[in-house]
Amino acid sequence: YPAQDTLQGQHWVITAGPTREQIDPVRFLSNNSSGKMGFALAKAAARLGAKVTLVSGPVSLEAPPAVNLIKVKSAQDMLDSVMEHISDARVFIGCAAVADYRPAEFIAQKIKKNTQELHVDFVKNPDILQTVAELKQRPFCVGFAAETQKLEHYAKDKLKRKNLDMICANNVANGKIGFDSDENAVTVFFKNDRTEVLQQCCKHKIASQLVYLIQK
Ligand code: C5P
Repeated sequence: YPAQDTLQGQHWVITAGPTREQIDPVRFLSNNSSGKMGFALAKAAARLGAKVTLVSGPVSLEAPPAVNLIKVKSAQDMLDSVMEHISDARVFIGCAAVADYRPAEFIAQKIKKNTQELHVDFVKNPDILQTVAELKQRPFCVGFAAETQKLEHYAKDKLKRKNLDMICANNVANGKIGFDSDENAVTVFFKNDRTEVLQQCCKHKIASQLVYLIQK
């Protein structure tokens, strides 16, 4: 096991959970992310002495010990918060399931159900991970890829397209792992073509192994 002060002096910024894209005052678009993986990563990094900023969308989890938890709602809020904290970060892990789209406009009054059909226009959200990876002074950038098919192909494509150092791919078609589950199994692809397979186990053990692979 790495020593308890292995990450002393390092700042890690981690995103977690879903984002919530408000449609009107009482309705929103979101997804099934529980935040468990991102919170487990934050806990594991803090345990090794890192200063950790955890930027999370709405989840029902307690902040891990010694972690600076920043609660946000929308993808835009999450991006703003990440950019506020990223300047001295050594590592950035994008573990949040950021909504790809948000409603083009926020309807200020509750939408009434007086039509047979309802059409809502959506516009693309900013890509937080890609924005961080494009910074001139950039941290080591780690992404997640949740896929239901062609795991390796799509994960490697994201690694390249988003200019990442490492990507953790999990198969969400397997209902026993990934979203909202306590367990996960991931295959890690690095920029230099190295691959590591982490067998299915609880997200806390997966998180410790990932932190180990990142700091090594
Ligand atoms: O493209 P996709 O959403 O599958 O990529 C997943 C990775 O990109 C995750 O690490 C996720 O946190 C990050 N991401 C992001 N901002 C977005 C979309 C995805 O940071 N708008």
